[in-house]
Amino acid sequence: MSNPGIRVSILTISDRSFRGEREDLSGPALVKAIQQLGWNVVQTGLVPDEKEMISNWLIQACDSGKTDLVLTTGGTGFAPRDVTPEATRAILEREAPGIAEAMRQKSLQITPHAMLSRAIAGIRKRTLIINLPGSPKAAVENLQTVAAVIPHAVELLQESPDAEKGHTLSSS
Ligand code: MTE
Repeated sequence: MSNPGIRVSILTISDRSFRGEREDLSGPALVKAIQQLGWNVVQTGLVPDEKEMISNWLIQACDSGKTDLVLTTGGTGFAPRDVTPEATRAILEREAPGIAEAMRQKSLQITPHAMLSRAIAGIRKRTLIINLPGSPKAAVENLQTVAAVIPHAVELLQESPDAEKGHTLSSS
């Protein structure tokens, strides 16, 4: 994997973990997966399923200029308090539907429950935000589906001179 400098923020969204009733296993699982990819975790957070708190956390992460990629985990399903996609969409400047489409397509080969994830992805300023499902297994599986394209996505967002090379090296 190229571009070892990718700076990643990870936000866990869970009422129960926020209240201390359930250990957050998904955030640490994503930290480990990011480190295995050779990227840098610059920030982690934990918020309840509250739209405004999620949006505010995403805004500060993107607008700090210190994060290339924000991963959220949790709150993408059908439960009444699952509002992560709405909180994300509210602060995006541009959506990146291909990322969510690819995650659902690949996940459907693993479980039909993939249809129940409403996850979205998109761009705010020069930061890519990707919603991942809430279980550690599902979060890491979905990250693995899109990991190969993230270095090129970040190069394009940064307008890096290397971005052209990514087009020709893109088969995987
Ligand atoms: N995707 C993968 N790859 N593996 C999984 O086990 N679980 C699904 C789905 N996506 C799953 C998956 C389930 S059970 C649900 S309800 C949705 O993601 C939404 O999860 P969330 O509400 O925890 O965000």
